[in-house]
Amino acid sequence: MSVASIQKRLSVPEIRAMKGRAKVVMLTAYTKPMAQLLDPHCDILLVGDSLGMIVYGLDNTMNVSLDTMIAHTQAVMRGSDRAMVILDMPWGSYQESKEQAYRNCARALAESRAQAVKMEGGAEMVETVEFLVARGISVMPHIGLMPQRVSALGGFKAQGKEADATEKWTRIARDFESAGAFSVLIEGTVEPVARAVAECVSVPVIGIGASPACDGQVLVTEDILGLFPDFTPKFAKRYMDLGKNVSDVAARYAEEVRGGVFPSLEHCFGVKKSQ
Ligand code: KIV
Repeated sequence: MSVASIQKRLSVPEIRAMKGRAKVVMLTAYTKPMAQLLDPHCDILLVGDSLGMIVYGLDNTMNVSLDTMIAHTQAVMRGSDRAMVILDMPWGSYQESKEQAYRNCARALAESRAQAVKMEGGAEMVETVEFLVARGISVMPHIGLMPQRVSALGGFKAQGKEADATEKWTRIARDFESAGAFSVLIEGTVEPVARAVAECVSVPVIGIGASPACDGQVLVTEDILGLFPDFTPKFAKRYMDLGKNVSDVAARYAEEVRGGVFPSLEHCFGVKKSQ
């Protein structure tokens, strides 16, 4: 990829400057064709570790490797040239120490060419974020509900219900801002707490299952497309029922193949068009 095409993408300072000016539009993408479709409409494409569940059918996001994240991010980079691309650091690749985080983030960004990383964590990750930012790595911390802790939490449970939640999460968001985070993502947190977080920092706060007061929103693309007809999370809006369309098309194709209707001669080579 040329320097020119890297510079065409929305940059970290440009995303940061959107606070209070324009909502940040972010969706997940895991493949080149999907990135091509989303790129003109999004400010940020997130290669989320949710791909473990969405693409690979895992129960949670705790078994996704860094190699897998890098491969999918490379595909998304090939399919986009306008949106910022963020690589989601998988569980176990950054929590051990700030040095481990640096080593893995540097490798992930060098090999994928993404512009920034996202990583889950609370107060215990502030020092790591500061260490990474000081070394040129752009970080979006992910607070509130952290899916990589689903085992410890006992499920995907909304956060922020404790009496001191607003104080706790606003302090953490401010600490991340002071550490140099260019943005913060807040997931699955009760609305008043998420609102307070969005209002307490001067970097964009991106919400998912959070608050309309957030500076931007992110959703899993497959959820808004209705690719999983049996389940749409409460916080996601299903804009269409693509899963049903796919199933209907597969049924029509199967019927035509079995009935000898497809392929017709127009889909074959070496056949002269009738006059
Ligand atoms: O992995 C992911 O897709 C995410 C979003 C749901 C925020 O972290």
